[in-house]
Amino acid sequence: MESQFDTAVAAYEHSVQEMPFREHIEAYSFLNAVGDVTGRRVLDLGCGSGLYVRRLRREGAARAVGLDESTAMVDYARRREGREGLGAEYLVADAAAPSADDLPAIEGAFDLVTAVYVLPYAPTPAALEGLCATARRALPESGGRFVAATLNPDHSTAPGWYRPYGMELSAREPVGEGTKGHLKAWVGEEVLDVDYFRWSAAAHERALRAAGFDRISWIRPKVSEQGRQEYGDEFWADYLHCPHALILQAEAGPRTAPTASDTSPAPDSSDGSDSSDSSDSSDSE
Ligand SMILES: C[S@@+](CC[C@H](N)C(=O)[O-])C[C@H]1O[C@@H](n2cnc3c(N)ncnc32)[C@H](O)[C@@H]1O
Repeated sequence: MESQFDTAVAAYEHSVQEMPFREHIEAYSFLNAVGDVTGRRVLDLGCGSGLYVRRLRREGAARAVGLDESTAMVDYARRREGREGLGAEYLVADAAAPSADDLPAIEGAFDLVTAVYVLPYAPTPAALEGLCATARRALPESGGRFVAATLNPDHSTAPGWYRPYGMELSAREPVGEGTKGHLKAWVGEEVLDVDYFRWSAAAHERALRAAGFDRISWIRPKVSEQGRQEYGDEFWADYLHCPHALILQAEAGPRTAPTASDTSPAPDSSDGSDSSDSSDSSDSE
């Protein structure tokens, strides 16, 4: 499948070494949220070149499967697996809209689903919900967890805010649901240019709930001790003040068979507004 990421394989592979925030903030915070994966079966949606699939497998995951719509990304990940023999597995598919009989192998087969910087590439609310639905589908009937790193809905649009961390984000104003933004990242000699879509915290939460998740929490990233020592607190201060990404975690409980009351029309008292009962939304600016 063609993707705007087809030409970004090298940039993504090198970004962990070239962009210190990826290791010291993103990986540190994301892996902390993921927790111990020993013996767990993990599906990484939008795995790209397989960065986290390899890492989770090395950290003891019983099974680590990456899924991406970019054939170029998956080809690279598979070649690397051929050399390294970690036992990581890869699939090419559109996780936002898999066809009816697509991906039978993922059905209920994982304890945990992850997605690092994938939700912002959903161009429509339906695609956002589709990604969450694929995550739910991969978990067993009894439930499981979905951990994503996603664009901070309130990321800074101040020119140059993220430049010290190797990137620029621009978003058209006024910002509404699905407003297009552009990411430019300088990764060593490579320049990465990709379009993304801005979704509010409520839009993420709606998509997660529609897919069967609840207990949704937004987690602000932190910097590792090693990152503080190597770069100093001053270097990270602006990023941490208004991070470009947050960790989004959701849990799914056991699926219940629909009852007669689930299928009857909703009472008239509803005003259609979203109730954010379980979310712990970030207060980032
Ligand atoms: C920003 S990259 C992140 C790659 C990897 N997760 C990482 O952190 O290095 C986003 C990846 O998500 C993939 N992606 C975006 N939308 C997707 C979809 N609907 N289905 C499958 N993969 C998707 C892209 O092809 C790309 O490889």
